[in-house]
Amino acid sequence: MSPETYAGNDDAAQRDPNRPIALITGATRGIGRAIAEDLSADHHILVGGTDAARTAAVVAELPSAEPFVADLQDLGAVVTAVTEAGLDSLDVLVHSAGVAATGTLEQTPAQEWQRSFAVNVFAVAELTRLLLPALRTAKGQVIAINSGSGYVSRNGGGLYSATKFALRALTDALREEERGTVRVTSIHPGRVDTDMQVQLQSAMGNEDYDGSRYVAAESVAVTVRTALSMPAEAMVDELAIRPVRG
Ligand SMILES: NC(=O)c1ccc[n+]([C@@H]2O[C@H](COP(=O)([O-])OP(=O)(O)OC[C@H]3O[C@@H](n4cnc5c(N)ncnc54)[C@H](OP(=O)(O)O)[C@@H]3O)[C@@H](O)[C@H]2O)c1
Repeated sequence: MSPETYAGNDDAAQRDPNRPIALITGATRGIGRAIAEDLSADHHILVGGTDAARTAAVVAELPSAEPFVADLQDLGAVVTAVTEAGLDSLDVLVHSAGVAATGTLEQTPAQEWQRSFAVNVFAVAELTRLLLPALRTAKGQVIAINSGSGYVSRNGGGLYSATKFALRALTDALREEERGTVRVTSIHPGRVDTDMQVQLQSAMGNEDYDGSRYVAAESVAVTVRTALSMPAEAMVDELAIRPVRG
C-alpha cells in the first residue's frame, strides 16, 4: 500500500507502532469477538463486521482498535475495505466470519450454496490474497476458524461441511505455498456457545438451549493465542477443541 493511502487513513495514523496488528473477521460476535478481546491485550485490532454501528461499538470497548466493515459476500467491498485499511504490514489475520446453513441437499437452493461459499470460502481466499504482501512483510500468521465439520459431513450438514472441507483445502495449500514466509493454522472447534449454535440447535428442533453444554468462545480464543505464541521456528498446523460433555 502506498504512503499516500496511509496518509488518508486516520485509523492507520493512530496505530501504536509497538503493537502488532491483527485483523479479525466476524469480530462483532461469538468466537471472533472473543478472539478480538483476548488479542486486544497486546495487539492493535481491526474489528471485522458487516454493520458500521455494531463494529464501532466493539472498537470502542478495546484499548487499540479500528473498524473493518465489509459484507464479505461482496468481493468489491472486501477490496475497498483492504485498500482503506492501508496495511503495509500485518501480523495476524484471523478468519472467523462464517455462516451455517442446515438442510438436506433437496432442501437447499442454489442461492444458499452461493451465500455459504461466498462467506466461508471465497472471502477467505480473496482477503488472504489481498493481504499476503502485508503478511509476508510481517512474517505474519493466518488463522482460519474451521470446524469439526471440516472433517465429517452428516445428514443435513452437507453444505456447511462442503464449505469447511474447501476451507481446509485452501489453508492446507496456503501453508505449503507460504512455508517460511507466513504461518497458517486451522482451528477446528466442536459446538461453541454462540448465536450460530443457538440458530443450529433451533433448526434441529432443540428449543431448550443450554450453552453450558458447549465450548465457550473464550476457550477457542485460547487456542488462537496458543497458535500465535509459538516460537518462530514452529507452527501449529491444526488444532481441534471439543466440549468435554460431547
Ligand atoms: N458456533 C459453533 O458451534 C462453531 C463451531 C465450529 C466452528 N464455528 C465457526 O466459527 C466461526 C465463527 O462462528 P460463531 O459461532 O462465532 O458465529 P456467530 O456468533 O454467528 O458470528 C458470526 C460472525 O460472522 C460475521 N459475518 C457473518 N456473515 C458475514 C458477512 N457476510 N460478512 C462479514 N461478516 C459476516 C458476523 O458479523 P455481523 O455481526 O456483522 O453479522 C459475526 O461477527 C465461523 O466460521 C463458524 O463456522 C462455529
